[in-house]
Amino acid sequence: MAGDCGKWVVMVTAQTPMNMSVIKYWGKRDETLILPVNDSISITLDPDHLCTTTTVAVSPTFDRDRMWLNGKEISLSGGRYQNCLREIRSRATDVEDDENGIKIAEKDWEKLHLHIASYNNFPTAAGLASSAAGFACLVFALAKLMNLKEDRSKLSTIARQGSGSACRSLHGGFVKWIMGKDEDGKDSLAVQLADEEHWDDLVIIIAVVSSRQKETSSSTGMRETVETSLLLKHRAKEVVPKRIPQMEEAIKNRDFASFAQLTCAESNQFHAVCLDTSPPIFYMNDTSRRIISIVENWNRYEGTPQVAYTFDAGPNAVLFARNRKTAILLLQRLLFYFPPDSFFGLNSYIVGDKSILKDAG
Ligand code: ADP
Ligand code: DP6
Ligand code: CO
Repeated sequence: MAGDCGKWVVMVTAQTPMNMSVIKYWGKRDETLILPVNDSISITLDPDHLCTTTTVAVSPTFDRDRMWLNGKEISLSGGRYQNCLREIRSRATDVEDDENGIKIAEKDWEKLHLHIASYNNFPTAAGLASSAAGFACLVFALAKLMNLKEDRSKLSTIARQGSGSACRSLHGGFVKWIMGKDEDGKDSLAVQLADEEHWDDLVIIIAVVSSRQKETSSSTGMRETVETSLLLKHRAKEVVPKRIPQMEEAIKNRDFASFAQLTCAESNQFHAVCLDTSPPIFYMNDTSRRIISIVENWNRYEGTPQVAYTFDAGPNAVLFARNRKTAILLLQRLLFYFPPDSFFGLNSYIVGDKSILKDAG
């Protein structure tokens, strides 16, 4: 370790978008390694709208690892943070900053402590995949700081151990999380199906129904589902394995009708599985269900799907419009059905696109 009087700090900042699944991950076969019961597919969103920004810093003056989330210090003692930190430290390599005369040797990383500050520019723990953007950003920023040589798919196996859905945010565009077969989780990783340029017509609109923290976290919810739902077993064995190749085909061919049919069916089966859990879990509310009816009626009236919906573990709607013209019509309709002061009002709309991971290092 070298540097001026040991008073140096080296920092890296990264920005990572959230991803929204269209084939859902719900249920683990291994709680510690975070191995899922089925493959899943998602779209990584534009970081200008919904993203996490994380700064990681290292200095010989830090006496322990510390982390602040949205300005409040949080404990790093949980297994998920510890697993990510351990995996990254074990792969750290030499860092040389000639300009400032700082040199950190591979062996020094075990002794050095970190300070981490992370901000989500969208609601945390409200069913908008904050854990996905959050852990992907943490792993990406630390990998930069510690000069890891691993590629993004390999890094996705580390992010997965923070939050399953996080592995998919390591890639932009359309992404598949392959569940893998190994017991050690080495082959449970994210791969890019198509990059952010693919299927440029697609517009994503997020209707924020509620920013409140959900009552049942995704981790707790899916654990209870695995323990009690028979429908989940059927879904993981019979339904998802058939839908994965169909969704890959729909994405490849920019086939909006098939994409919409599969996306809506996936969202509905995921929420059916939540209802099949004992005690049942309700993530959607009356506003969510009204949005589903509006989209279903519209699609039926047109005779071919114009818009697809998906809801994660929360009441907020993620809507996919087949093109920009439809997206404008969709926004008009949402404003008509949910005028700003109405009882069933929406908090805000976020219009996004597919995008890539930003590295502000
Ligand atoms: P969500 O639907 O928002 O993903 P989850 O219940 O899956 O909700 O996860 C929320 C948890 O993810 C938070 O309580 C926190 O532990 C973690 N998390 C959220 N944002 C970040 C972040 N930026 N950095 C690290 N961890 C985060
Ligand atoms: C409904 O990845 O948040 O968003 O792995 O326990 O952290 P943990 O859960 P998380 O679950 C996401 C569930 C989902 C569907 C999805 O993203 O595929
Ligand atoms: Co989550």
